[in-house]
Amino acid sequence: MATATTAPAAQALRWTKKDLLGLRKLSAEEIRLILQTAGSFQEISLRPIKKVPVLRGKTVVNLFFEPSTRTRISFELAAKRLSADIVNIATQASSLSKGETVVDTVKNLEAMKVDILVVRHAAAGVPHLIARHATSSVINAGDGSHEHPTQALLDLFTIQQKKQRVAGLNISIIGDIAHSRVARSNIWGLTKLGANVTVCGPPTLVPPQIEQLGVKVTYRLDEAIKGADVLMLLRIQHERQEALLVPSLREYRLRYGIDRDRLATAKPDILIMHPGPVNRGVELDSEVADGPFSVILDQVTNGLAVRMAVLYLVSGAPKVEEVEANGG
Ligand code: CP
Repeated sequence: MATATTAPAAQALRWTKKDLLGLRKLSAEEIRLILQTAGSFQEISLRPIKKVPVLRGKTVVNLFFEPSTRTRISFELAAKRLSADIVNIATQASSLSKGETVVDTVKNLEAMKVDILVVRHAAAGVPHLIARHATSSVINAGDGSHEHPTQALLDLFTIQQKKQRVAGLNISIIGDIAHSRVARSNIWGLTKLGANVTVCGPPTLVPPQIEQLGVKVTYRLDEAIKGADVLMLLRIQHERQEALLVPSLREYRLRYGIDRDRLATAKPDILIMHPGPVNRGVELDSEVADGPFSVILDQVTNGLAVRMAVLYLVSGAPKVEEVEANGG
């Protein structure tokens, strides 16, 4: 069977998009191409000198309007390992805080000849707005409750790495589905690659008609765990809820938290995934988060290779081997 990293279609395909704004509009072949490219970048981070000259001379700007640990640092390291120059903009300390519009800020950055803008914003659609005005490539690093494409790509990469396939696996996404850009991007990516996706959470946190995206819905955690190959846990997104949508975190933990007893009902080769940040003792207990079935830190490691792949593809750079063969 062809896998996400070996499919012949992926090998023949060339990347043609200026931006990476979401997984909704990517084909399965384009997703496989990113995963395959990430696979070829993985070993660079294991070298004593973790750097290749593939993006030398390119400038990447991290434009984060929302807090981030994993995504921002992962993009920064990915750019540095490809020898790009990277600038981190602290939006609170920029002229955005004086009333400059996002589009004007971007036009000013482009006047300084930057190549790639990595954008995170609390409002859905801001990276798309920027992409319409920018000649540089735009990568969505998370927009509101809409999409977080590189998170879903690193999740797909991790599943592929641990299970050798994505197609046919039963994957349950559990938690605050309604406010989760990670859930939405994963639903697009997993279903395009042939996984069977179930979403589970309190009825107030599961959007109506989400079945139309090709997923099953259950409000019962035991049903979501039964037969699942992967449990993807999500944080309650307090910052995106206008009203409290669960009675209390204690109640949420009792009904939807994964502890040792619930883990014992899962398949013996279950994978426990979480995009982070984890609220320990709410969506999952520490002994599960740090236990033998957890691949949470593998997800973070893989995020670096996936972001190197995305930076490389959107920049239209030559192959690593070509640069190295020409003396780098
Ligand atoms: N998973 C994720 O997006 O984490 P950060 O908010 O720390 O970037």
